[in-house]
Amino acid sequence: MLELTGLHKSIGGNEILHGVNLNIRKGEVLAVLGPSGSGKTTLLRCLNFLEKADSGSVTLLGSTLDMHTASRREIADYRKHTAFVFQNFNLFANKTALHNVTEGLIVARKMPKAEAEAIGMKALKRVGLANKADSYPSQLSGGQQQRVAIARAIAAEPDVIMLDEPTSALDPELIGEVLNVIRQLAEDGMTMIIVTHEITFARSVATDILFMDGGRALVQTDTKNFFEKNDNKRVREFLSSLNERMFLNENDESNKKNISHAHRGGPSHGKRSGMRKKRRRK
Ligand SMILES: Nc1ncnc2c1ncn2[C@@H]1O[C@H](COP(=O)(O)OP(=O)(O)O)[C@@H](O)[C@H]1O
Ligand SMILES: [Mg+2]
Repeated sequence: MLELTGLHKSIGGNEILHGVNLNIRKGEVLAVLGPSGSGKTTLLRCLNFLEKADSGSVTLLGSTLDMHTASRREIADYRKHTAFVFQNFNLFANKTALHNVTEGLIVARKMPKAEAEAIGMKALKRVGLANKADSYPSQLSGGQQQRVAIARAIAAEPDVIMLDEPTSALDPELIGEVLNVIRQLAEDGMTMIIVTHEITFARSVATDILFMDGGRALVQTDTKNFFEKNDNKRVREFLSSLNERMFLNENDESNKKNISHAHRGGPSHGKRSGMRKKRRRK
């Protein structure tokens, strides 16, 4: 359904992506894993034409676009079939949840307001937030804001949703509600490409795993194979570094301490607390 071939992207003279390929069939969930800085965000942004690739082509539902030369018109047509969920939600602070969901339908798709609102309410219901339709982002938790962003994505009835670390800006206790919504979408057959560090989630929900390292897609394989039979050295190193941080035996008290310690001082902590501060300032 979506096939990417030979994606190259440089930023400021440095090549970030060195010819990435991927493919995903209808109804599949592709989880993109890999260390920080390996190019996952850039890959997703190029795939949605938020960044212009240097070269590469993408075929979606049978039509192929040259990612370097695609016209505005071609990109607009492509985007009718895709939706993007950002790490930091990207909601309009001055619009209600419902208005955030309907904005794109009314402005970009020229849909009558009443029709857009009916679709918007259905989408909010699907993420469990029908009762928050009139709330502004500042009145919602981070988890709820991200669910609104997911409602906005599904309201557009895309063929594929791309999500860039949808839970990494959230406090730990809010991650589950967002993952549950994504899991439900997967069960309903939504095709998704999701960049995530939630390995347990990826393992249980994704059909395929794409492993990025140093701007290359080192491995794309089915999920079972990735976790059980992968003999790629970099993948093994990556998984064992995660194992050390996250999968310590929970019955072992000293390990428990290590886990909470790692969480406090872990690499994502700065980002999370930074986000919290930003949201409070609004
Ligand atoms: N706007 C930018 N300017 C300069 N370098 C960038 C920019 N965006 C990304 N990079 C670099 O590209 C590489 C890949 O980044 P990114 O796609 O964000 O990786 P990931 O999402 O896997 O952490 C990193 O080395 C990063 O520093
Ligand atoms: Mg990223």
